[in-house]
Amino acid sequence: MKSDPGIDLRHIAIIMDGNGRWARKRGLSRIKGHSAAEKSIHDAVEVCGELGVKYLTLYAFSTENWSRPKAEVSFIMKLLSRFIKGNIDELDRKNVKLRTTGRLNDIPENPRKDLELAMERTSGNTGLNLILALSYGGRAELCDAFVRITGDIASGNIISSDITEELISRYMYNSDIPDPDVIIRTSGEQRLSNFLLWQSAYSELVFTPVLWPDYNAEQLRSSLDEYRTRKRRFGGLE
Ligand code: FPP
Repeated sequence: MKSDPGIDLRHIAIIMDGNGRWARKRGLSRIKGHSAAEKSIHDAVEVCGELGVKYLTLYAFSTENWSRPKAEVSFIMKLLSRFIKGNIDELDRKNVKLRTTGRLNDIPENPRKDLELAMERTSGNTGLNLILALSYGGRAELCDAFVRITGDIASGNIISSDITEELISRYMYNSDIPDPDVIIRTSGEQRLSNFLLWQSAYSELVFTPVLWPDYNAEQLRSSLDEYRTRKRRFGGLE
């Protein structure tokens, strides 16, 4: 495939889907599928490092995922702690800065503390920003922004005529992070599922049938090849 070397690739966002189906195909329980997800996360971090990509956002747990069976939710939260503790040394060595997006206060205390420590430890790193979307919902993020904007209007910090797209962007969870250039979703589903609704306005969407635990470095490079064939016009003309 012909690739466009000039196309921006600062921010890759991934909807890691298909863990449950991966496990079912093997006669395993769903949680085994989540456990198998870790290797694909490693590969994604590796590829971003190779390419000098500055931001990688992974949709790890949505505001809607709380409705899953209690045992599955609790397992994912434990997995989160295990992932942080098991990988923090390597991430730090690779100069990765760990960050989150979402309603972190919803996350149980143990994994939240692990995350906070890891974020503090890596806060000075200057390589890849690895952003875990946790208890994240695009609509929740917009609600939280509206609450803060109306609060700032009420207290006189801003007036309603200050509201522009640029101002709203500043009220999003991580206003310093550029919008994703590409959003990749694994497992064959073709929807955003409440991911980065404000920020995805001009993101290129790449869908692959590969289930997340099977999505390795080669698969990611191939998704990025597809992205590089796109012509990004942002509503204008070439
Ligand atoms: C989607 O697969 C996956 C999730 C909702 C959870 C994602 C969790 C992880 C990748 C592991 C935890 C994260 C970290 C950072 C350690 P699914 O369960 O919806 O799969 P299905 O659609 O095939 O059922």
